[in-house]
Amino acid sequence: MLIAHLSDLHVFTTQSETGESRADIAQVVERIVTDLVSLSPPPDLVVISGDLADGGTEDDYRLIRRLLAPLDMPILAVPGNHDRREAMRAVLGDRLAGLQPGKFLHSRVEADGVTLLGLDSIIVGKPQGALCSERLGWLENQLRHTQPLTFLVMHHPPFMTGNPHWDDYSLIEGRERFKTIIGASPKRILCGHIHQPFHTLWGQHYSAIAGSPAFQYNLVPGSQAKPTLGDMPYCYPLHDCQPDGSILVHLRHIA
Ligand SMILES: [Fe+2]
Repeated sequence: MLIAHLSDLHVFTTQSETGESRADIAQVVERIVTDLVSLSPPPDLVVISGDLADGGTEDDYRLIRRLLAPLDMPILAVPGNHDRREAMRAVLGDRLAGLQPGKFLHSRVEADGVTLLGLDSIIVGKPQGALCSERLGWLENQLRHTQPLTFLVMHHPPFMTGNPHWDDYSLIEGRERFKTIIGASPKRILCGHIHQPFHTLWGQHYSAIAGSPAFQYNLVPGSQAKPTLGDMPYCYPLHDCQPDGSILVHLRHIA
């Protein structure tokens, strides 16, 4: 079972909301998709942990749909703070695997020995994330029956990075109850939002943030300063789930 983790594509057609997404981001995403298609064996599943679009117009999502078209495998995606729920569901709803009905863009996908749950952590109009009691209730329900390996996918990291700028813009509501709900058995948490690859063991949960092909920040360990944009090489991780329960993480660098 091979899972590719992408995040923060920030694709746009005419208007970049952040003003920071590279102008040729559509071509870069095309190269990532080409790389995914070239893998043999191909990933069984692609996860995108939010900010698919940089502004979230329906035209943006139509472009994303075209860019992702060569991928035959299921795609699980959650919204980020630069996405728009209504437009994302309207254009990509039938393309995304396991998307649940309702006002949130939650997902559930069952694969070979693996359950993947996508959690909608956005607060409309704000960069920070939240897991309100309704969303945590959904998660609690979903976790009643899972396969041996469970992945949780969400845009906003529930753990601290150690940098106050990012941590103030991260998950600001529901963190403690989230940790209680996910319990003692190890989960794998895949996030985005901070635009730099980052890995941690949060309690017993391996947690990873994927970098962004659109723009990335320098996050210097121990620094309290606001991270600055940097020209770092981009890579995306492949989680290779082994039959014995172990998982290998490979990095694919895209020139
Ligand atoms: Fe982002």
